[in-house]
Amino acid sequence: MTSPDNFDQLQLGQLIRFNAHMLDVATRTRNPDVDKKNQESMDLERLLALWRKKHFPETPYISWAEKKLRTYKIWLTERKLMVNPVQEKIAVQKDDDLQTIIRERRSIRFWKKKQVPRELIMEILEAGIYAPSAFNRLPWRFFIAETPLNELKEGDASNPGMFEQAPVRIFVTVDERLFFEKYSGALDAGLAMQNMLLTAHQLGLGTCLIYQGEFVDKKKLEEFYRIPAYCMVYCAILLGYPDETPEIPVRMPVEEISVFLGEIPNPDF
Ligand SMILES: Cc1cc2nc3c(=O)[nH]c(=O)nc-3n(C[C@H](O)[C@H](O)[C@H](O)COP(=O)(O)O)c2cc1C
Repeated sequence: MTSPDNFDQLQLGQLIRFNAHMLDVATRTRNPDVDKKNQESMDLERLLALWRKKHFPETPYISWAEKKLRTYKIWLTERKLMVNPVQEKIAVQKDDDLQTIIRERRSIRFWKKKQVPRELIMEILEAGIYAPSAFNRLPWRFFIAETPLNELKEGDASNPGMFEQAPVRIFVTVDERLFFEKYSGALDAGLAMQNMLLTAHQLGLGTCLIYQGEFVDKKKLEEFYRIPAYCMVYCAILLGYPDETPEIPVRMPVEEISVFLGEIPNPDF
């Protein structure tokens, strides 16, 4: 792999954002690997120093990455879970406009000990099927697992445990026998999922996507979740009532990632 010393502004910026995101998730969950992240925090420090050495500009994501590094250091000394308590405002109103819902949706990794009513799950699935799909194939097949109330744990749902602890897991799959193109299945699944995430947020629920794809234990999916082999599982959506209010993870200003024909892209492009 090329050394970060030779990276241009775009590559270095991406690496910094990625490292900072991994530290952020580790400090906001009870990730057992959080102690081991010390090496990664030192890497991030080194990357930020390199950024300065190369005289790259102070962009919002650089300040964000620095903040995540400081938070990690506080975690190392205080061992305090860096979770913002839930704010009831998260239960958005049904008539909130689309832009508010899009901007305020966050990935949730902590759940209340509260079951999600079936009607709400159905409303979310219903939103999924109104997504576009290539050739209008309607390839979606959903598999839903609900965790019984007595097995739900309040709060902590760090990555290794969050999957089983989430109140509801929705496996969003597409029947891959229907496809001759390489990528449409993934797009169809993704479009349905975004509808579902936004609808869940609108209903006052929280979600987190968990990538499955090639990492998944296919045998377990077939035997435990009864998902046939021809149903390609791209992601599971974890669903429940949020027990945290995460701050917005960094976003790139749209001017920095878009270029109109005839204009010169900025160096971060
Ligand atoms: C395809 C995909 C897979 C993801 N997998 C995980 C995951 O395994 N664990 C996790 O905690 N978050 C996962 N996420 C959530 C992202 O980390 C999250 O969307 C990102 O940090 C931005 O935060 P936001 O959703 O609050 O805007 C995934 C998101 C996507 C789109």
